[in-house]
Amino acid sequence: MSATGGKDVPSQDELDQMSSDELVKLGTNLDGVEIIHRAERFPEPGTGVEKRAERQVAIWFTVAGISALACFIIFIWNHWEFALPDSADYWRYTLNTPLLGVTFGLSVLSIGIGLVLFTKKFIPSEISVQDRHDGGSSEVDKKTIAAEFNDSLTTSTLPRRKMIIGSAAFGLGAFAFTGLIASVGGIIKNPWAKGPDAPLWHTGWSPIYNPADDPNETVFLRRDTGNPYQVALVRPEDLDAGAMETVFPWRVSDGYGETEESRHKLLESLRYVSNPVMLIRLRPEDAARAIKRKGQESFNYGDYFAYTKVCSHLGCPTSLYEQRSNRILCPCHQSQFNALEYAKPVFGPAARALAQLPISVNNQGYMVAAGDFIEPVGPAFWERKS
Ligand code: FES
Repeated sequence: MSATGGKDVPSQDELDQMSSDELVKLGTNLDGVEIIHRAERFPEPGTGVEKRAERQVAIWFTVAGISALACFIIFIWNHWEFALPDSADYWRYTLNTPLLGVTFGLSVLSIGIGLVLFTKKFIPSEISVQDRHDGGSSEVDKKTIAAEFNDSLTTSTLPRRKMIIGSAAFGLGAFAFTGLIASVGGIIKNPWAKGPDAPLWHTGWSPIYNPADDPNETVFLRRDTGNPYQVALVRPEDLDAGAMETVFPWRVSDGYGETEESRHKLLESLRYVSNPVMLIRLRPEDAARAIKRKGQESFNYGDYFAYTKVCSHLGCPTSLYEQRSNRILCPCHQSQFNALEYAKPVFGPAARALAQLPISVNNQGYMVAAGDFIEPVGPAFWERKS
């Protein structure tokens, strides 16, 4: 033994030979901890009360696991989609987010209750008093603290409570698994799939949006009338100079809502995230000085310019067009884009111009897409074509 700070400190050899109990006692003495009261919760192991307490804890961990798995199942098999109030799937999709929240929340709550119950029921009740002191920890302190942690584990009786260990592993494991899936699941896409569910390579403006599409079919600009099943196409004379209109893609094969399939297609066109486009008619004097992007000089039709509504920063809808300044504003983080210069960002966090849709007018006088976007829409790294 050597003296440190007025206290006897064992040598390294003595420390190595001490049992866990002895190290715990040494640690409390050296730390000036005075244990005033300490009592095991169940001095007599295997009693009915103890088993009941164990079941209570296990039940909460099991509830946590079941809730986490329910959350996982809802997340995977009831993937949210937009649905109109009169559609058969309305409640299924509307309840999706609340159900995810309730099951995930219940899982967190159950884990919390399980941990609190375990502490209250099985950790020995103890009242200790310790003086505060400054400075770093000595080697003796570190070693004795490790022993105290070990002792806590042993006296908590956890190692021999297989039911609690099993249920806790199930509850925490399912919770961690679901948390992981929920956080990364949304960014996993099938790069080979086509159509609205995994469209990495096309937006709804592409003539080959779905594998069955006719590549020569014309994609018209359709305005949003508030009725998803009403088809209202756009002619150039529909917009005044300085006006802006939100448009969506429509093909003749989409129909007019006369069949279930047609209604589904019309709805798809409105709900797919890359579809909304701002059709802007610049004033003639502004259009005359507009700067076009290299390689996209023919994307406008006269005074008409079409830009995606999906912000290149984080994907919010850039719905505000300020006619006097010709600026497009994103309400989320206040990015501003100059409609006179290929929607280049001029303020805020967005670093990339809004993607421009090539447009034209067909021989019947309707505005049509002259092709798909040629660059990623919004902030979607995954949708890069090269
Ligand atoms: S999403 Fe538009 S500025 Fe952030």
